Amino acid sequence: MTDIKKGLAGVTVDETAVSKVNPETNSLLYRGYPVQELAATQPFEAVAYLLWKGELPDAAQLAALRRTEREHRGLADDVRAAIDLLPTSAHPMDEVRTAVSVIGARESAGIANVMDAVGTPEQNLERSVRLWAQLPAVVAYGQRRRRGQELIDPRDDLDYAANFLWMTFGEEADPVVVDAFNRSMTLYAEHSFNASTFTARVIASTLSDLYSAVVGAIGALKGPLHGGANEAVLHVFTEIGSAENVGPWLDAALAEKRKIMGFGHRVYKRGDSRVPTMKAALDTLVEHYDRPDVAALYDALEAQFVERKGIYPNLDYPSGPAYDLMGFDTLTFTPLFVAARVTGWTAHIREQQASNALIRPLSEYVGPDERHVEGYVPDAADVEAQERPEEAAG
Ligand code: COA
Repeated sequence: MTDIKKGLAGVTVDETAVSKVNPETNSLLYRGYPVQELAATQPFEAVAYLLWKGELPDAAQLAALRRTEREHRGLADDVRAAIDLLPTSAHPMDEVRTAVSVIGARESAGIANVMDAVGTPEQNLERSVRLWAQLPAVVAYGQRRRRGQELIDPRDDLDYAANFLWMTFGEEADPVVVDAFNRSMTLYAEHSFNASTFTARVIASTLSDLYSAVVGAIGALKGPLHGGANEAVLHVFTEIGSAENVGPWLDAALAEKRKIMGFGHRVYKRGDSRVPTMKAALDTLVEHYDRPDVAALYDALEAQFVERKGIYPNLDYPSGPAYDLMGFDTLTFTPLFVAARVTGWTAHIREQQASNALIRPLSEYVGPDERHVEGYVPDAADVEAQERPEEAAG
């Protein structure tokens, strides 16, 4: 009997130098640096540079990346037109996925030969930077459009995080909010072979283009077992209402065998290494907005769920309420994850391209035994193929 690794659990499929998740020590390293150190000390632009290039930038390198990022911040007319074709009730993840498809089609225009689609390492680094730079406008415009508000043009005098908030809300954010947002971007940027990154690598392994790989990754991230959990956490908070309702709500949820969103992880079983940093950022927001009720609900659900199930929060648990306090619509949360994770995805796509092997696992067939269409008479080619089964297999 074949040993099937359902969900690829515990299977190591390749090497990576981008990040290291260590559940034993509860740590996450980006190119060797602990993520909490990066979140505390670096602007998100520097973290993006680190993921792509392997080293933190010096001042000149950071300035150069920031110049490029600022050049591409605006929402291109054709991308805006494509978004405007979608109903405002479309899920924002569908909107972002569509926008990346349009950006990809535009940037790949003129590449007629599919063998050229993959591009060179340098081209793919440039594509990664440009795509990353364009996503805040897509996400911000999506939220504004759903609220019936106008597009806000980017500001050249603001860094990535502050400009993202500016384009979303049309006002300069308080430094406390910018700092919490910047930290969340860093924490969401990369997490080794998670489902969306693996999806991106599968697509890249066929020598398809970087944009197709990112579009596929966005599809994988949308699911509530992955990125969609930050949105789902807020639905849970809304359902519970306030801290004193946690007990009865949890009794009912566990009786129904519901999965509690924002808890549990495939790799971390003793707590997610990113949670303390994001929880600290949430605490600063709770204080800034004077919302002790949010902290009380957060703490009550965590304490009671951990006590009853021994399952710990993941990053989506603190980031959901943090984004809510900042003023993002619940539906915008997972697109924010996209804006951050596009750095990790593209670092992995380039790593896959640099040392490629087509990703094509096997499966154990459990369908009906061989049978034949009534009345079918095999022709000569068919008979020949049957005699050479290893060549006929696709
Ligand atoms: N709520 C309730 N029970 C949970 C749970 C949760 N959030 N996470 C895991 N469990 C339980 C499972 O029901 C299962 O119990 P069982 O053995 O009695 O059937 C056990 O813990 C193992 O869970 P399993 O789903 O097999 O673990 P996994 O490694 O495949 O799944 C997740 C990991 C992330 C998919 C899972 O924890 C989950 O669905 N969490 C909620 C969604 C979420 O927050 N996702 C974001 C991840 S960063």
